[in-house]
Amino acid sequence: MDALQRARELVGGARSVVVLSGAGISAESGVPTFRGEDGLWKSFRPEQLATPAAFAADPRLVWEWYAWRRERVAACRPNPGHEALARFCGARDATLVTQNVDGLHRLAATDHAGKSVAEAGHELLELHGSLFAVRCTGCTFRRAHRDPVDATTRDALPRCPSCGGLLRPDVVWFGEALDAGVLGRAFEAAAAADLCLVVGTSALVHPAASVPLAAVRSGARLVEVNPEPTPLSSLADAVLRGPAGTLLPALLS
Ligand code: OAD
Repeated sequence: MDALQRARELVGGARSVVVLSGAGISAESGVPTFRGEDGLWKSFRPEQLATPAAFAADPRLVWEWYAWRRERVAACRPNPGHEALARFCGARDATLVTQNVDGLHRLAATDHAGKSVAEAGHELLELHGSLFAVRCTGCTFRRAHRDPVDATTRDALPRCPSCGGLLRPDVVWFGEALDAGVLGRAFEAAAAADLCLVVGTSALVHPAASVPLAAVRSGARLVEVNPEPTPLSSLADAVLRGPAGTLLPALLS
């Protein structure tokens, strides 16, 4: 039996599914990954841009980078991998946990159902936040935010309507904790799942990479979709080596 057939049987027989996705699922939409040949961390030093200390030292520079990433991602569309997952998660008992901040899973779910993510029957957990949301550095204000950001001067940066503090991207930076509620729901879904599908992640960053490990510890079967081996490959019951945009429609249709 080939790996695709084996994986299709595992998906077909599953009652409750948890999915963990990473940057690789958006590669075919044109969003750069973090660690590949053209990865974002090859051109930028994370500690210069994606840390609270970097923002405190030079918020304009950090916003300039996020404004550039937002612009780049806003031009990208969900690909057949996102769409296959959106259809699958809307129709099944499935929780989609993503490390991606690009919003493409959300867009695919709403495009597919013409409704909000929750109305589409979709639990979507964005572990690392969203490029298209902001929160205040001085108070608890946070909201969705898609407007262009003028990062030419510090004075032009977006400010909190509630307290006047500087707004920052609502993403998780190095050295910051993930939202405990969101992370807790991801681990609950992992504990309840009998199948875990891991797509397009190097599985090197924890706690995200611990979600599939928790699922396996609770007895779930593991299916991996990735052109390259990862630390999870040896634990997988089926490994599909190739691009998510082709393999997910074949796996989940
Ligand atoms: P990485 O850049 O570390 O890994 C991307 C993975 O996608 C690799 O394993 C590739 O082999 C795989 N890949 C590439 N093209 C693919 C395709 N077409 N289909 C399927 N897979 C493909 O990205 P992540 O694992 O998502 O965190 O990185 C995890 C976290 O590290 C990010 O969320 C970010 C970063 O630091 C924060 O910013 C907090």
